[in-house]
Amino acid sequence: MRFVVGAAEDLPPGTSTIVYPEKVKSGIGVFNVDGEFYALKNTCPHMGGPLCRGTVRGTSAAEVSDDGALDVRWERSGEIVACPWHHWEFEIKTGKTIFRSRQKVRDYPVEVVPPDVLARLREGVETIPVSVEGATLVIEV
Ligand code: FES
Repeated sequence: MRFVVGAAEDLPPGTSTIVYPEKVKSGIGVFNVDGEFYALKNTCPHMGGPLCRGTVRGTSAAEVSDDGALDVRWERSGEIVACPWHHWEFEIKTGKTIFRSRQKVRDYPVEVVPPDVLARLREGVETIPVSVEGATLVIEV
C-alpha cells in the first residue's frame, strides 16, 4: 500500500516529519538527509520508544593513535537519530544501531514522485521517481 507523505519541498534537508498510515499505528518518521529521503518506523526496537521523535544528530567516534593518545571526533552529522527514551542511536539511512547489534528499526522505501506521475500513481500505474522540485513523497507501507 502506498501512502502520500506530502510535498518533498516541505521537508528540506535536515528536517523530518512523522506520518500515520492506517497500517502503522505508531507512525513512520520521514527524514531528509542531505536531499535524500528515508523512512523509519516510529518504534524503537529496544523498548518501543517513539524513536522518530528523537534528536537527529551525528555521533562520536574514537581511535587510539600510534602514540597512545585518544582521538575523539564528531562524525555523520544529521545521519543519526537518538531515541528519546534511552538514547540508543540508529542510522537513519539503514535503521541499524550504530553499535554492534542485531537490533534494527523497520525501514520503508521512499519515492519522490513528480506531479504528473502522481496522478497516474493514484490510478495504479507504475511510476518513475525523477526530481524533488514540485514532487510528492510517497512511502510503501
Ligand atoms: S526504547 Fe529506545 S532506546 Fe530504549
